[in-house]
Amino acid sequence: MRLSLGIVTGFLGLKSFAASENTVKPRQINGTDYKVGFTPLKTNWTDTVGTSPWPEYPRPRMQRPKWKNLNGVWRYRNTTDSSLESPPFGQALEKPVLVPFCLESALSGVTGKNRIWSWYQTSFDVPSSWKASGNSVLLNFGAVDYEATIFVNGHKAGFHRGGYFEFSVDVTSYLKANGANELLVYTFDPTDMDKVQIPIGKQSLWRSDMIWYTPCSGIWQTVWLESTPTEHIAKIDLVADMHGQVNVTVHSNSNSNIAYEITVHELNSDDAKKIANGITGTPFIFTVDSPQLWTPDTPTLYNISIRYGSDIVQSYTGFRTVSRGVIGNVQRPLLNGEFVFPFGTLDQGYWPDGIYTAPSVEAMSYDLKVLKNVGYNMVRKHVKVEPALYYRACDEMGILVIQDMPSLRPQVDGVGQLDPAAQPEFNRQLALLVEQLKSYPSIFAWTIYNEEWGQATSPPWPEFGLSDMVRSLDPTRLINAVSGWWDHGAADFMDNHHYTTPQCGTPLWYNYDPADTSGHNAGYDPSRIGLQGEFGGIGTKVDFNHSWYKTLDGQSAYKLADDILHWNYLAGNLLTQLREQVEEFACSGGVWTQTTDVEGEVNGMMTYDRSIIRMNTTMFKDEIQALYAAAAKRANKTETE
Ligand SMILES: *[C@@H]1O[C@H](CO)[C@@H](O)[C@H](O)[C@H]1NC(C)=O
Ligand SMILES: *[C@@H]1O[C@H](CO)[C@@H](O)[C@H](O)[C@H]1NC(C)=O
Ligand SMILES: *[C@@H]1O[C@H](CO)[C@@H](O)[C@H](O)[C@H]1NC(C)=O
Ligand SMILES: *[C@@H]1O[C@H](CO)[C@@H](O)[C@H](O)[C@H]1NC(C)=O
Ligand SMILES: *[C@@H]1O[C@H](CO)[C@@H](O)[C@H](O)[C@H]1NC(C)=O
Ligand SMILES: *[C@@H]1O[C@H](CO)[C@@H](O)[C@H](O)[C@H]1NC(C)=O
Ligand SMILES: *[C@@H]1O[C@H](CO)[C@@H](O)[C@H](O)[C@H]1NC(C)=O
Ligand SMILES: *[C@@H]1O[C@H](CO)[C@@H](O)[C@H](O)[C@H]1NC(C)=O
Repeated sequence: MRLSLGIVTGFLGLKSFAASENTVKPRQINGTDYKVGFTPLKTNWTDTVGTSPWPEYPRPRMQRPKWKNLNGVWRYRNTTDSSLESPPFGQALEKPVLVPFCLESALSGVTGKNRIWSWYQTSFDVPSSWKASGNSVLLNFGAVDYEATIFVNGHKAGFHRGGYFEFSVDVTSYLKANGANELLVYTFDPTDMDKVQIPIGKQSLWRSDMIWYTPCSGIWQTVWLESTPTEHIAKIDLVADMHGQVNVTVHSNSNSNIAYEITVHELNSDDAKKIANGITGTPFIFTVDSPQLWTPDTPTLYNISIRYGSDIVQSYTGFRTVSRGVIGNVQRPLLNGEFVFPFGTLDQGYWPDGIYTAPSVEAMSYDLKVLKNVGYNMVRKHVKVEPALYYRACDEMGILVIQDMPSLRPQVDGVGQLDPAAQPEFNRQLALLVEQLKSYPSIFAWTIYNEEWGQATSPPWPEFGLSDMVRSLDPTRLINAVSGWWDHGAADFMDNHHYTTPQCGTPLWYNYDPADTSGHNAGYDPSRIGLQGEFGGIGTKVDFNHSWYKTLDGQSAYKLADDILHWNYLAGNLLTQLREQVEEFACSGGVWTQTTDVEGEVNGMMTYDRSIIRMNTTMFKDEIQALYAAAAKRANKTETE
């Protein structure tokens, strides 16, 4: 498969929207009419966001010193599909919008519904020190849902499709010699309207039952500029294993095959631990002596510098090996050659004020800290992709990530589960997902399908070919081809979702039969790893100061407990059942539903505003350690890793 590196260059052969530089006069932007929109529920961070949100350096795996954040108050116009033919160059768009919060969110200030077609507008200056000849200016987007067309000073500069992926546009040739540059972004996001079937995860324009949430449209991650040499590094693929072997491919923007120098630094020092020289565009293998290994308990990260011509970037990695092996006659997931019991939450990544975007990096990290504090060593990032800083936080804190592909809309009216026409684009975006995230040390496994959403229901089963594709793009992680429901034997896990009674790696409920295509075939397959990919899901109704819906009827869960005491009693029972399945059967990991309440779903470890922690943290700590101890005992280890 041909891979896109996410770099969008000029638009050869397409209709030119060029207007001469002189005819486009960017208007002055001001944010005085911006205010946070209405949300039924605030977080403690809502009113601290201000008008310079997400100021942090957004791309920790490839840092360059000269950069400029464009987040802030831009202008916005709700529009129609035909307006792409006549971009509003040099006009004042009516409404303010706070980038990078999606149009449906309160923090965007738009708080819109049905925002299908939109114009965004801002202007920017390029620092004069960036303008030396031999330099390029890249305009970077963390993510825009779903399509983005970029215009700079009246020129069409780029286009990107896919709501979850970072992309860059080289805007050097469109910049003015002096003064402000006008940036217009046209976005189109159909989500699940009419019969559209594109990767959307849990967003829905029309579903109202509890597990579907508010959609997210438009720009929803940091927008920023950087200065690079004209010939520069475009992407770094890098994994480092438990033996100190580093496998790196440095891609240049010109697809060159030219020498570069890579330095792995000593811990807490600029000194070199290892210096090696590779060639761009091709895998390069070298070894670092006795690195400290990355594990959830010791998440050691090594700084890396790469010098390619005059381009110097900072990166990092962790040394660890993810694999699968038989221990005591049972298929197990292994980290650094030992059985690791991944135990985490279903992590939706929704916020009542920012919808798809946490109000701040601090807020985003707060969730992870709460989970880590009670001993979870994993998150299942559920049918969503997070900003790079989330994965960096998992790398730093020692949290394994099971990364789901954002699912297609589960059902197209009257057409069955999958519109076959949607498959190629799903496949292309699955490759983008793996390419974007495969170099983060915390990534542990990939999930291709969740609960049959957008999964073909008759042969040939697409998950076999897609598992092969994912394996070829990233041979260093495990693959959960099908999380829940229709399993046909592909890839590494037998993952069964059972909310009220966990059924993990046990033959007691159903016998696994790969030939059975009749229904939910969810037993135990001894040739693969037994995983409880979702369980828990119990909730309590929430007082309206902490709930999204202000009616009790609007609040639901797979099972509702009367109060938090009862919730913890039920949670303790479920955790005990899972532990027994570790002790007696072949259970090798679990995913508790879920990190927080989301909208009408009141089954989080925390409420949606993160203010009430349902967990009895003492009990959860004890029960989670008991799971790890049970797993260690099955591997005859005397202590947990
Ligand atoms: C800011 O923009 C708004 C909307 O265009 C306008 O009404 C207001 O006068 C502007 N304020 C300043 C200080 O320019
Ligand atoms: C915005 O446009 C959509 C259609 O694209 C329409 O449904 C919606 O009502 C519009 N909203 C406003 C405020 O104009
Ligand atoms: C290095 O990584 C590339 C790209 O993922 C892969 O094709 C290759 O097999 C790897 N080499 C080794 C020795 O692991
Ligand atoms: C990596 O580099 C950063 C920035 O120079 C520094 O703050 C950090 O301590 C370094 N990390 C390690 C493990 O040396
Ligand atoms: C653990 O020890 C028991 C008793 O010696 C043995 O039967 C079992 O196979 C061992 N399991 C593993 C995973 O080594
Ligand atoms: C909800 O908040 C209001 C205002 O702060 C407060 O007066 C009320 O007591 C709170 N309700 C509950 C149930 O805590
Ligand atoms: C938010 O503030 C309230 C009141 O100070 C506090 O009780 C709550 O724990 C805070 N929540 C978070 C997530 O910090
Ligand atoms: C929390 O759990 C611990 C350990 O199970 C228990 O001793 C304690 O009483 C519980 N606390 C509450 C408030 O239920």
